[in-house]
Amino acid sequence: MKFIYSILALAGLSAAAKAPKPPKPPGVTYLYTVNITGGDSYPVGNGPYGSRIVVPITGGTFSGPRLNGTVMPVGGEWGTFDADHEGGAFHIDVRQTFKTDDGAYIQVMEGGASQPDGSGHVYLRFDTGSEKYYWINNIVAFGVLHRTPTGPTIDTWMINTPPAPK
Ligand SMILES: *[C@@H]1O[C@H](CO)[C@@H](O)[C@H](O)[C@H]1NC(C)=O
Ligand SMILES: *[C@@H]1O[C@H](CO)[C@@H](O)[C@H](O)[C@H]1NC(C)=O
Repeated sequence: MKFIYSILALAGLSAAAKAPKPPKPPGVTYLYTVNITGGDSYPVGNGPYGSRIVVPITGGTFSGPRLNGTVMPVGGEWGTFDADHEGGAFHIDVRQTFKTDDGAYIQVMEGGASQPDGSGHVYLRFDTGSEKYYWINNIVAFGVLHRTPTGPTIDTWMINTPPAPK
């Protein structure tokens, strides 16, 4: 009996040793925090994509270690609220234009969804022709959105490739 048990124990150990290790997660680099101010909202209503509400962007500022500047008074949020499902989320759909403190324009698209704690999880896409900020066309970025009395704030990071598996 003792022998059987020790064989089983050994088999268990080697199965654990052979279980595939999860890959290393990517690192993140902080990009900036943006404060956005909005104007009066327009309730488009409950259509095929949910209950849409449109909010124009009137301005804002962003600041971080690699870029600073202002949010241009153009663009807005075209989000939809999923009212037909239990726990339905607000789906974020934002387009805005950044002007950096040194005069470059960067177009920013944000999607994502509200979370049960009231925050929002955001994915972003950037495009610009600026030589200085050209790197921002090629990153994968995400953010965490908080709604404040003065408007939404989004903390934004980009991912870094983890070390290659050995
Ligand atoms: C955003 O607003 C907060 C609170 O008012 C302020 O502390 C922060 O400096 C602002 N950041 C930017 C980038 O405007
Ligand atoms: C942005 O502002 C921060 C603090 O004000 C500064 O440390 C940083 O160098 C600035 N970055 C750029 C790209 O101007």
